[in-house]
Amino acid sequence: MNDNSPYVVTIDGPGGSGKGSLALSIAKELGFHLLDSGAIYRLLALKAMREDVDLDDENALVELVAALDIRFETGDELSIPLLDNEDVSAVLRTEETGDAASRVARHGPVRSALLAVQQAFFKAPGLVADGRDMGTVVFPEARFKFFLYASVEIRAQRRYKQLINMGLSASIPQLQADMTERDERDRNREASPLLPAVDALVVDSSLLDLNQVTELVLGHIRDVD
Ligand code: C5P
Repeated sequence: MNDNSPYVVTIDGPGGSGKGSLALSIAKELGFHLLDSGAIYRLLALKAMREDVDLDDENALVELVAALDIRFETGDELSIPLLDNEDVSAVLRTEETGDAASRVARHGPVRSALLAVQQAFFKAPGLVADGRDMGTVVFPEARFKFFLYASVEIRAQRRYKQLINMGLSASIPQLQADMTERDERDRNREASPLLPAVDALVVDSSLLDLNQVTELVLGHIRDVD
């Protein structure tokens, strides 16, 4: 291809498949912007919980999107999510917020309202976007699409390490049960269910570390580009 126009790389997959870390390392390598779309759903869920908005009330959630004040500040390693100017990094990663995010994410009108918010992240020189429907709905024209998979046992172990490193408590069996339930909800919902785009390259990361997956994905991008 080798043209210099900005392009999008999408990385979709279930929670704990390693797509967040992969997206960060690919964005760094390419010098691209990064969209962690799960964080957007988590920020909306957090705002809803703080405002006592029912997570099943579609209309109230759509109204909340219109008034949503979110930003990502670039830190040394990770970007810092801000809600109403407050750093909410720690509370955003908890299982409670993740579960609430997957509940607000079920509603089609809420997803539609968040579409433009997510698409606005695409700027020169390019974007790496991770989530559940980046390649299918938000950036269907993306130049490269990947779908990252890993067994639920491996994903629960990875999430456990992440949470412990953040000083939070966790239990592997509980995480595994929560992930299975969240996967089911994400896969079986009517609006933008979690599934690989037909033109996505599916990568099983169960037995690969971050460097190996990064090399595999970058190798593919460089071969084709
Ligand atoms: O990836 P993360 O665990 O941060 O996402 C939290 C929840 O947000 C997911 O379980 C999913 O229900 C929802 N989500 C989504 N579409 C995306 C990203 C996240 O529905 N593109």
